[in-house]
Order: sequence, then structure tokens, then C-alpha cells
Amino acid sequence: VLITGAAGQLGSALLQRAPADVEIRAYTRAELDIGDAHAVETAVQLTQPDCIINAAAYTAVDRAEDEPDAAYGINALGPAHLAQAARAVAGCRLLHISTDYVFDGRSQQPYQPQDPPNPLSSYGRSKLAGEQLVVKHLGTHALVLRTAWVYAARGRNFLLTMLRLMRERGAVRVVNDQHGTPTTADSIATALWRLARRPDLSGILHWTDNGRDTWYGFAQAIAEEALRAGLLPKPATVTPIATADYPTRAHRPANSALDCSASIAALELTPRPWKENLRTTLEEIAAGEGRTT
Ligand SMILES: NC(=O)c1ccc[n+]([C@@H]2O[C@H](COP(=O)([O-])OP(=O)(O)OC[C@H]3O[C@@H](n4cnc5c(N)ncnc54)[C@H](OP(=O)(O)O)[C@@H]3O)[C@@H](O)[C@H]2O)c1
Repeated sequence: VLITGAAGQLGSALLQRAPADVEIRAYTRAELDIGDAHAVETAVQLTQPDCIINAAAYTAVDRAEDEPDAAYGINALGPAHLAQAARAVAGCRLLHISTDYVFDGRSQQPYQPQDPPNPLSSYGRSKLAGEQLVVKHLGTHALVLRTAWVYAARGRNFLLTMLRLMRERGAVRVVNDQHGTPTTADSIATALWRLARRPDLSGILHWTDNGRDTWYGFAQAIAEEALRAGLLPKPATVTPIATADYPTRAHRPANSALDCSASIAALELTPRPWKENLRTTLEEIAAGEGRTT
């Protein structure tokens, strides 16, 4: 299995959770730039993988508004290069990761994989183009797994930003009108390793942890669980605000909950409630800082 973006949140979780019987070739961005078609072709030809997992992406959602070409180069052309290279290796599959931000969030219901996408942002458009290109080039050898609100004990993510702000300021203001599901990189990695053994599955699937909340609900849970884990000296104040009170470069969907029932049934794997995974992640952070809970 060839893994790209190996130093990212998901890439790291894939390496940590790799089954013992799988031979892995993992490439960080410095080792393989997926925007470079020639480098991708060379790496894939050398490795002759059964499967490629593309954990590389341009994930700076707001910056993508100012750098649409950079986002497109990595999120659309990058996966297309991987798909084209995979075609030259008999039987090679591509597991590609996409995002809830391909949807406009106007539905009140969790989104099904086949619901029509309508991205609101440059990032979302680049990710949607990536989905379409891998399916176009690889057909049934491509599988797109959409996920949402990814975090881990390390990396750039909402959890670590909140923890830092709660420690520095003791108070945060967080939007309470965008709904979705916080999901650990570990949880996605577990689903991807199952998918790697299922060549019968292709097309688009969804995977998140279980449940649904707002960024405010996520932040409140972080405050509670971080206090419990000994990561905060005193309770932090979390104040709900509206998206209109926190303008960002990129527009984000008001609802981006994903319906995961198809992947749950196909993989016979049930996602854990997101708050349980948050607790586990904060305990991991506390252990890393030498604190006991
Ligand atoms: N993070 C989220 O909240 C979220 C939500 C929904 C879906 N997703 C999707 O989930 C997947 C994994 O995201 P993540 O959270 O693990 O992101 P991440 O932590 O930002 O990791 C992405 C990795 O890709 C690398 N990368 C960037 N450009 C590259 C290139 N041209 N060639 C090779 N590697 C490159 C990055 O390296 P540098 O750090 O050096 O740039 C980074 O190591 C992505 O497909 C993302 O779109 C993420």
C-alpha cells in the first residue's frame, strides 16, 4: 500500500494503525509532491502497489480563497496524477479522501453519498474536482471516502487551537450555527484499512464518528474533557456566537453532517460516539504532556 501525505493527521494515523501484514511505502510531502505528475508516476511504478491511499491534501480552507490554483493543483490534479499512475499498475486501487465541504449545507438532513454536491468555497470546489477526476480515470478501482471535522492529538486542528486559546485566555467564542461531526483521524484510518481489503467496494462513501453537534458544542466538550484530563488549570468559558459574528474568508456549510449508514453496513464497523473519541484523544494529549488523569 502506497500512502501519500504521510506526515499529516490522517497519514500519521494510517501508519500508526497499519495492519501488521501490510507492506507499506509511505511518502511525506517532502518525499513525494502529488502535484508533480512525473514524480507520482515514478513512485507508483517503483512501488507497484495493490492500493494507494491518498492522505495528501491542501487543507487550509480560508487560504484557498486566495490561492485557488494551489488548492486545485493539490486537491484536484494531485489525485488525478495518482489515478493515472494507478491505471498503469494492474489491479491497483486508489482510496481517496474527500470532505463534507463539497455540500452547501442547506439540507436539514445528514447528507447521503449520492446527494448533489454544491461547494461554497474554493477548497470545496477543488476537493469536488478531485473526486470527479479519480472516478473518471479509475472507475471501479477508485473509492472516495468523505469525512468531516478531522482532528488528532497532533497536527493543525480545531481541538488543539481551542486548547491553546482556553489556556491562554480562559475564554473562547465559537459559532453555534454550523452542524457536523468531529471525527478522529484514527477513526478514519480504521475505516480506510478495512476498505483497503474490500476491492468489491467503489464509488463514494461517507465516514465520520457518531453523532452531530456544532463547533460550539465541540468546544464545550473540549473544555469539559480537557479540565477532566488535567489539561486546563480552571474551567474555560465557551460563548456561542453566530457565523455572521465570525466572518471568515471561506463560506462554510451550515449543516455538513454525513450519513454513514452505507459504509457502516458494508464494513460491519460502527463509529464510536464523537465525545468518546474526544475523551480518548485528550487523554493521549495529557499522557504526552506527562499528566495523569
Ligand atoms: N482536516 C479536516 O478537518 C478535514 C475535514 C474533511 C476532510 N478532510 C480531508 O481529509 C484528508 C486528510 O486531511 P488531514 O486532516 O490529515 O490534513 P493535514 O493534516 O493537513 O495533512 C495533509 C498532508 O498533506 C500534505 N501535502 C500538502 N500538499 C501536498 C502535496 N502537494 N504533495 C504531498 N503531500 C502534500 C501536507 O503537508 P504540509 O503540512 O507540509 O503541507 C500534510 O502533511 C484530506 O483529504 C482532507 O481534505 C480533512
